[in-house]
Amino acid sequence: MGVLHIDASARYQSSVTRQLSTFFIDILLENGTESYQYLDLASNPPPTITELHNVAMYTPETERDAKLRAALKTSDDYVDQLLAADTIVIAAPMYNFGIPASLKAYFDMIIRLGRTFIPDDSGNYVGQLANKKVIVIASFGADYRKGAPMADMNCYEPHLRHMLSFIGVTDPQFVIAQPTQFGGVDEKEASIAEAQDKLRYLAEYA
Ligand SMILES: Cc1cc2nc3c(=O)[nH]c(=O)nc-3n(C[C@H](O)[C@H](O)[C@H](O)COP(=O)(O)O)c2cc1C
Repeated sequence: MGVLHIDASARYQSSVTRQLSTFFIDILLENGTESYQYLDLASNPPPTITELHNVAMYTPETERDAKLRAALKTSDDYVDQLLAADTIVIAAPMYNFGIPASLKAYFDMIIRLGRTFIPDDSGNYVGQLANKKVIVIASFGADYRKGAPMADMNCYEPHLRHMLSFIGVTDPQFVIAQPTQFGGVDEKEASIAEAQDKLRYLAEYA
């Protein structure tokens, strides 16, 4: 099994998502994996899409010149790494009701026509990551659970689910610690403990 581990929190020492992803990855590594790849999107943010990237992406591979191929190099490297993994662990906090910009930039790099989604004979796009296991480890400062006053403001989860679904990941596991900042200390600690229980279960049985 090959594991790709992605962290996106701008915090290091006190990051909830980094703490939880390390907890989860440690169990996976103890259980044995064939390969382990790590991406820290906060210290190495992916580039944003340029006009050249856009032109290159929609130019058939056989017609790309050296300049267009170079424009897609970073994206191709990310896609190669992603497609080589069996299990993908994405750990990221909520920033301004959505995912961190670095994680959005990563998805802009990996959502690639002809590589992670391919049109079938009828022109419908087929996501290429159907066989991957994806675990999203999130932490939200406030509480967005069903029935909570801010539940409708959670754009993080639907956005990430849509992007994953587009590239073929139909059943990602979301483990969310909440509220980590705008509740009490007890609530924060309970949310982390609950997330750890879920992650332990996923690492052992899922
Ligand atoms: C720039 C920034 C924006 C944030 N925006 C939100 C937000 O919109 N909603 C929310 O509930 N929490 C928000 N938070 C709080 C974080 O989601 C929360 O503290 C989370 O646990 C941080 O994860 P980390 O400890 O892994 O960095 C924000 C935090 C930062 C630093």
